[in-house]
Amino acid sequence: MESSYIADRTSDGGMNRLTLNDDDKKVREWFIDQVKNYGCTVTVDKIGNIFAIRPGKNNALPPIGLGSHLDTQPAGGKYDGIVGVLSALEVLKTLHDNNVETYAPIAVIDWTNEEGARFSPAMMGSGVWAGVFTPEWAYSRTDLKGAKFGEELERIGFKGDTPVSYEANKLSAHFEVHIEQGPVLQAENKPVAVVVGVQAMSWFSVELRGREQHCGTTPMDSRADTLLTAAQMIVAINAVALATPGGLASVAVINATPQAINTLASHVQFNIDVRARDDALLALLEAEIAEKCEEIAAAAQVKIEVWDRFWTSPRTTFDETMVSMVRQSASDGGFAFREIQSGAGHDSVYTAKRVPTAMIFIRCKDGISHNPAEYSTPEDIAAGAEVLLGAVLRYDAY
Ligand code: GLV
Ligand code: MN
Ligand code: MN
Ligand code: MN
Repeated sequence: MESSYIADRTSDGGMNRLTLNDDDKKVREWFIDQVKNYGCTVTVDKIGNIFAIRPGKNNALPPIGLGSHLDTQPAGGKYDGIVGVLSALEVLKTLHDNNVETYAPIAVIDWTNEEGARFSPAMMGSGVWAGVFTPEWAYSRTDLKGAKFGEELERIGFKGDTPVSYEANKLSAHFEVHIEQGPVLQAENKPVAVVVGVQAMSWFSVELRGREQHCGTTPMDSRADTLLTAAQMIVAINAVALATPGGLASVAVINATPQAINTLASHVQFNIDVRARDDALLALLEAEIAEKCEEIAAAAQVKIEVWDRFWTSPRTTFDETMVSMVRQSASDGGFAFREIQSGAGHDSVYTAKRVPTAMIFIRCKDGISHNPAEYSTPEDIAAGAEVLLGAVLRYDAY
């Protein structure tokens, strides 16, 4: 595909297209330029979700949605997110070049802030569209520097005119292509997977309060050392997940104050990401983690000031008819495939709350993702796009 847009790469070959930064603005402008080549009209809603709509024979019908995201992690790769949007653009181009008039209109969508890396939580644009979060709450979210989501959205010129909701921007269905972000397809030597659902997940913010104490004069046995306590909790959280097949728990963010080499930290904030194959197991993991951390805090004379589960998403099961269209398309295309449950969150989690939804995964190298080394071959990406096209045409004829 012709490209006038050159992204600012990080020096290690990765991407830092954090939500609503200047690169996010540039790639959005590039996307809008591209879709105009295929006869699309463009709608931007008040949370910055971009809907590029190609008319069909019957434009009273809600469009068939093909969406994913253009934002990346701070040290992201070149595939997570944008491959889904580019696959959808490829479907548009194919329909256009072959003069195919679909029965229903087709919408290619860039959902705002899927990653949740700059402004949490993840899947924010699709979540507001689905009615899970209010726009006001999303606008008030801040990044580490205190910048507000709503102000940044206006700064890059992507606070659009249409309300953010299923009712204002209806879809009849949602298909999403994404890299697998795990090692399963490579291990089984298959280019694509039919995604049947997404595992359950929760995000926590924890704050610990201890005492600022002199590192040189406070005896080792009379400290309320919050950073040490947090370290013990992180080890315990990992141990709980390791002992729970089907469960995962990770701490990847920690902030200690006052950040002086010779003063014990009196306050620590860290986040926990907990995931499990189903809701019951997630609840069990959450309870075990909380119990272990309470024991650790009590023994350390450190207070747990905040234990906030600020975001949770139950297990998602995709629509069986949609999944069977993807399965049929993969099979008709002659691609080896398997069925899989996603470990990562996707915009399709929230679209599935409103419309029948299904996803296609593309094999990626060594399962590496959220990393500049992310890689999928052009052949595998083409396979994913072909399966998408087949599934969309099947849905359109249905
Ligand atoms: C969301 O993108 C996640 O899986 O963390
Ligand atoms: Mn993604
Ligand atoms: Mn991601
Ligand atoms: Mn994701």
